[in-house]
Amino acid sequence: MIFDSHAHYDDEAFNVDRDDVLLGLKDKGVIGVLNCGASIEGARMSVELSKKYDFIYSAVGVHPEYADIVNDDLICELRDLTRFHKVRAIGEIGLDYFYDENPDREIQKRAFRLQMELARQLKLPVVIHDRDAHMDTLEILKEFPQVIGTIHCFSGSVEFARECLKLGYYIGFTGVITFKNAKKIVEVAKEVPMDRILVETDCPYMAPVPNRGKRNESDYIKYIIEKISEIKGKSIEEIECATIFNIKQLLKIPK
Ligand code: NI
Repeated sequence: MIFDSHAHYDDEAFNVDRDDVLLGLKDKGVIGVLNCGASIEGARMSVELSKKYDFIYSAVGVHPEYADIVNDDLICELRDLTRFHKVRAIGEIGLDYFYDENPDREIQKRAFRLQMELARQLKLPVVIHDRDAHMDTLEILKEFPQVIGTIHCFSGSVEFARECLKLGYYIGFTGVITFKNAKKIVEVAKEVPMDRILVETDCPYMAPVPNRGKRNESDYIKYIIEKISEIKGKSIEEIECATIFNIKQLLKIPK
């Protein structure tokens, strides 16, 4: 069984067959999905999806790519969206220094802090996006010691993982762990204790081998679970149980 801790079924890549894909997931062993908003439109749609499908929960937030739209009005709208009981997290939020065309770093940090503060006030966990911004991300996480969450699509070193674990965060593993050239993330998987691992698609992106390059969907997480079971020397069932327990714990979903 699978609980996808990070998906974007609101993405236009699913416009042609979204309902078919989602309706099919349960038969493929998917018992839960956390759909994460990236834009404000995505956040709204994420909430709609969690109203329509019993197994979908939502996170609302604005990705660093759109950091320049984050202001007090937007924070108010996010706060309103969290009134629906299946909104269980603020995300995805964070820093992305990879693309030059992304908003200025100071603008990204401001948007990140405003949304971390919202999570603190609402006592909700956060879904963190960190690309090429490990040190600045860590600095801001440390400013909010009451907040925990998941470092989605973890891409840092073992040392960085240790710092995030110390702060109480979970580590999210995507299809990247199945890629032939994956070395760093395999080392991280060895290090992260069973009670802190999460599995995720980040669909439509990041499909694991053997579906690399295709549109991703939650049932493909079975390949990620297989790989983690191999790395950690545990059974598939143990990895399934741990990852489901962990995400339910984080999102306060009854077990
Ligand atoms: Ni994402």
